[in-house]
Amino acid sequence: MKRIAVLTSGGDGPGLNPCIRAATRMAIHLGTEVVGIRRGFTGLIACDAVDLDLRAVGGIMGRGGTFLGTARCPEFYTEKGRREALRTLNRLGAEGLVVIGGNGSLTGSLELHRLGFPVVGVPATIDNDVNGTDIAIGVDTALNTILDAIDRIKDTASSHQRAFFIETMGRNSGYLALVSGLAGGAELVLIPEVETSMEKVAHTIEDAYVRGKAHCIIIVAEGWKPGTQAVVDYLRERQEELGFEIRLTVLGHIQRGGSPSAFDRLLATRLGAAAAEALLGGEHGVMVGWVASRLAVTPLEEAVAFQKEVNLELCRLAAIMER
Ligand code: F6P
Repeated sequence: MKRIAVLTSGGDGPGLNPCIRAATRMAIHLGTEVVGIRRGFTGLIACDAVDLDLRAVGGIMGRGGTFLGTARCPEFYTEKGRREALRTLNRLGAEGLVVIGGNGSLTGSLELHRLGFPVVGVPATIDNDVNGTDIAIGVDTALNTILDAIDRIKDTASSHQRAFFIETMGRNSGYLALVSGLAGGAELVLIPEVETSMEKVAHTIEDAYVRGKAHCIIIVAEGWKPGTQAVVDYLRERQEELGFEIRLTVLGHIQRGGSPSAFDRLLATRLGAAAAEALLGGEHGVMVGWVASRLAVTPLEEAVAFQKEVNLELCRLAAIMER
């Protein structure tokens, strides 16, 4: 291939810039030109592109977000959108594409592959719900951001003797809540994958109070039902009887920003470089991930066949540690 394209798509996260940098530098090292597509599949449809040379991807290692921009692109789910995307790739002279993103973006990549265009995906989503990789780009930094928030909230929670609900991202996945709850020493974790009654939540708060704890920290994944606000409203009515006053902090998009951690920079560099190598080596329709501390190649069909589940062993561990 003489020229390939690279784009970031879907929700952003720390580590996208080092990944673009690595894919670009590896491709150039292998004698191939690189064109960056701005705003993900939206930019691919609109032919919004910029040539990337070695200098264009310099100085971005420590920057959060993605300097190419990203987007969620419903248009790409249509045949017309995908046809336009192919036209752009042809117009730009790109013979292959590296897509860096989560489940939706990798599903889009599979569609392009099915149309006969050579694509390699790289898993990047703070939700860590992509099949075929133990960890996706962005997860480590997001977890550290959440842990920092938990530690800070614990300080004020203890000073005031309060129960705090801390909501993490994860509209379909409890990974961030579960792992940060475990690592942050929370009293309870609420995730979409495990049903927990409001009564159980009330009991946990009351129990923490009776045992003389200075605070009660409950981590809630965004996708937990019936929802963080619903449980907070319900428990506020019963505040007197539970002992602790109740407060809520929604971390929101703070989790998606920030300078990538050492782990994310390294992971992004290895996966980005491996994706360019795979594409130029003739391996198409695959995703390059990280399994058991090694690079692992998974067909895109498998990567997007289902959402990776949380490790139930960690749920058991969290329940034991929550005492
Ligand atoms: O898919 C990643 C994610 O961070 C989810 O956890 C969250 O629900 C969603 O993105 C938020 O997306 P947006 O930034 O488009 O509101």
